[in-house]
Amino acid sequence: MKVLGIETSCDETGIALLDTETGELEQRLYSQIERHREFGGVVPELASRDHVARTAPMIMEILEQGGGPGQLDGIVYTRGPGLMGALMVGACVARGLAWSLRKPVLGIHHMEGHLLAPMLADQRPEFPFVALLVSGGHTLLVDVAQVGRYRILGESLDDAVGEAFDKTAKLLGLPYPGGPELARLAATVEQSTLKFPRPMVDRPGLDFSFSGLKTFALNTINRLAPLSETDRAEIALAFEQAVVDTLRIKCRRGLQHTGYQTLVVAGGVGANRSLRSSLQQMGTELGIQVSFPPLEYCTDNGAMIAYAGGLRMTAGQSDCNVSDVLPRWSLEDLPPL
Ligand code: KG4
Ligand code: ZN
Repeated sequence: MKVLGIETSCDETGIALLDTETGELEQRLYSQIERHREFGGVVPELASRDHVARTAPMIMEILEQGGGPGQLDGIVYTRGPGLMGALMVGACVARGLAWSLRKPVLGIHHMEGHLLAPMLADQRPEFPFVALLVSGGHTLLVDVAQVGRYRILGESLDDAVGEAFDKTAKLLGLPYPGGPELARLAATVEQSTLKFPRPMVDRPGLDFSFSGLKTFALNTINRLAPLSETDRAEIALAFEQAVVDTLRIKCRRGLQHTGYQTLVVAGGVGANRSLRSSLQQMGTELGIQVSFPPLEYCTDNGAMIAYAGGLRMTAGQSDCNVSDVLPRWSLEDLPPL
């Protein structure tokens, strides 16, 4: 089955063409980061307009290279969660194209795309597993019994991890998106004399809270001001260590709680090297498999949507009568395969 995947939930236009039988994958990615940088964050209206300009030409290009639109068996797109206007662009293009070509169409959950992205690696994790989903909008610990059978074990009660990275980076004067910038700054020092709290680890349960870390960073910056370059790097490292430790403690609890032998880590913050090595080390200690998507599939992309959509379409799912998008949408509301 040849499936076209369209991702437009935030500030990346991702288009992919996936052959579900051969695994052959063609993809294009356009990042709007430069456009939003001067505003210090994503401006929703600008994001929608840029998706309008990019989506159709990128689809045309990928289809022309892949043998024309007639070869398609189905079209899938991100239906939510995400920015309302940005989602609507992808949904309208996908539905219009599907209607004109008389092909099935299906809306995909963005976080299911992230969650299944490790399946695009050579070594695929096996079900069941615990998934740690860490992006700019979500922090979720999920019990994944099978594709579509998701139970949320824990989530952030306030800021998502990526959001906390971005806000703390902004306090340190780093450009948007701050996560990778903060990680780069942290890597310039070997250790930090500062210690940030590990939020909510002394309470039972698997929920997270990250907004306090950002406030702690602000108070530290005010206390140490004016900051030297080393102070900035030590704050970045102390923040990163606190986040990584907190995520590791909760992942360990999630694995104990479910008894599963595999942990999957996905979403933009999954690209963080300290997080990757800390969780790998925990995996070795516990004798469990820890699986990450290839770096290019950690952040938003069309391939993960094409992959999740390909699985669902192969199982016969489509939703030709749906026309809305879902800016808020729980993984638990998805149908099983
Ligand atoms: O999954 P994603 O591309 O988009 C959303 O669905 O939100 O995640 C983007 C988030 C941003 O907050 C970005 O700062 C963060 O992932 N991020 C990182 C790193 N790379 C991306 N955070 C920490 N370290 C990184 N290396
Ligand atoms: Zn994402």
